[in-house]
Amino acid sequence: MSELLVTGGAGFIGSNFILYWLKKHPEDNIVNLDKLTYAGNLENLKEVEKNSHYRFIQGDISDPKIVDQAMAKTDIVVHFAAESHVDRSIMDPAPFVKTNVEGTYVLLQTALKHKIKRFHHIGTDEVFGHLELNSSELFNEQTPYNPRSPYAASKAASDHLVRAYYHTYNLPITISNCSNNFGPYHFPEKFIPLAITNLLENKKIPIYGDGLYVRDWLYVEDHCRAIDLILEKGKLGETYLVGGLTQDISNLEVAKKILKIMGKADTELEMIKDRPGHDRRYAIDWQKIKQELGWSPQHSFDQALEETIKWYQEHQQWWSRVKSGDYQTYYQKQYTR
Ligand code: NAD
Ligand code: TYD
Repeated sequence: MSELLVTGGAGFIGSNFILYWLKKHPEDNIVNLDKLTYAGNLENLKEVEKNSHYRFIQGDISDPKIVDQAMAKTDIVVHFAAESHVDRSIMDPAPFVKTNVEGTYVLLQTALKHKIKRFHHIGTDEVFGHLELNSSELFNEQTPYNPRSPYAASKAASDHLVRAYYHTYNLPITISNCSNNFGPYHFPEKFIPLAITNLLENKKIPIYGDGLYVRDWLYVEDHCRAIDLILEKGKLGETYLVGGLTQDISNLEVAKKILKIMGKADTELEMIKDRPGHDRRYAIDWQKIKQELGWSPQHSFDQALEETIKWYQEHQQWWSRVKSGDYQTYYQKQYTR
C-alpha cells in the first residue's frame, strides 16, 4: 500500500489520473493538493469524493506550510499542478512563473525533507520548441530544450530543477514529457474540447492562423497508464517521452474530423488571428518508454476522438457550468478581434 500526493488533481489530467489510480490500485491512499484555480474542478472527482482512500486539500504548491502538511505521510508525489494554457501565458506570464517554477521548487524542497521515495514530475513536449512542417524529425529524450512560450519556458525551468535535485541531492525523481492530451474532463479552453462544445452550442470552431499547425494527440487514459508504468518500473533520474498514435495531423484536419463525427458542415470553421510565436509542429518518438517499460498507446485517435465527443454530448451539465463565469471573461478577451 502506498500513500500518494497528487498535485493539481482537480485539473484535467490530474483528475483522470486519480480516477484511474483508485480503480487500478484501490488499496492505495491519495491526497489531492490543488489550489482550485479557474482550471480546477472538484466535480471531476464526484465519483471518489466519499472514498475513504481519497482526501482533498485546497492549497497552493508554492506555500511551504501547506505543502509540508500535505506531504507528511507521502511515499510518492505525482506532480501535475501547473498553469497550463499557452494563450493565458501570453496574456500574463506571472502565475506561470509562480506556480510552475516556484511551486515546483517548494515541492522539491519538501520532498527532500520528508525523504519521499519517488517524485514524478509531469512535463510537456513544448519544452523542446517546435519542428518544421513536412520534416520527419521527432522529439526524443536527447532533443535540446528550446521553449518558445512563457508556458513552455516555465515548464522547462521546472524540468531542470527536478533533474538538479536528482543530481545534487539524490532525490529519487522521474520525469515524463508528453504531447497534447485529450479526453473527458478537458477544460474547454483547449482546442479539442473547445471545438466540440462550441459545436454543441451551435457556435463555430475557431482556427488560429492557417490551421496547418501539427500536434501529437495522446488519449488521457494512455497517459495515465504510462505514468503508472514509470512509477512501477521507471529508472530513477530518467526522462520518458509519452506520445499518441497521430501522425502529423493538422488542426484543420482535427477540426474536420470533429465536424464529420458531429454531422456538421465545413462552414462551421472560423479562421481567426494567429497566436503569437505559435509552435508549428510537435511530434514524439516514444520508443524509449516502449522498449524499456513496454508501454505503447492503445487508443487510436479516431476511436478516442469519437469517445471523447460522446462524453461531451453526455456531460452537457459539466461543461456548460465550466463555460460560465470566469471562463466567459477569458473567452471574450481571446476571441474578440
Ligand atoms: P489543468 O490546467 O487542467 O489543471 C491544472 C490543475 O492544477 C488545476 O486543478 C489547478 O487548480 C491546479 N493548480 C494550478 N496552480 C496551482 C497551484 N499553485 N497550487 C496547486 N494547484 C494548482 O492542466 P492539465 O491539462 O491537467 O495538465 C496537468 C499537467 O500536465 C501540467 O503540469 C501540464 O503542464 C502537463 N501537460 C499537460 C498537457 C495537456 O495536453 N493538457 C500536455 C503536456 C503536459
Ligand atoms: P491548445 O489546445 O491550446 O494546446 P497547445 O497550444 O498547448 O498545443 O492548442 C492546440 C492547437 O490548436 C494549437 O496549435 C493552437 C490551436 N488552437 C486553435 O486553432 N484554435 C483554438 O481556439 C485553440 C484554443 C487552439
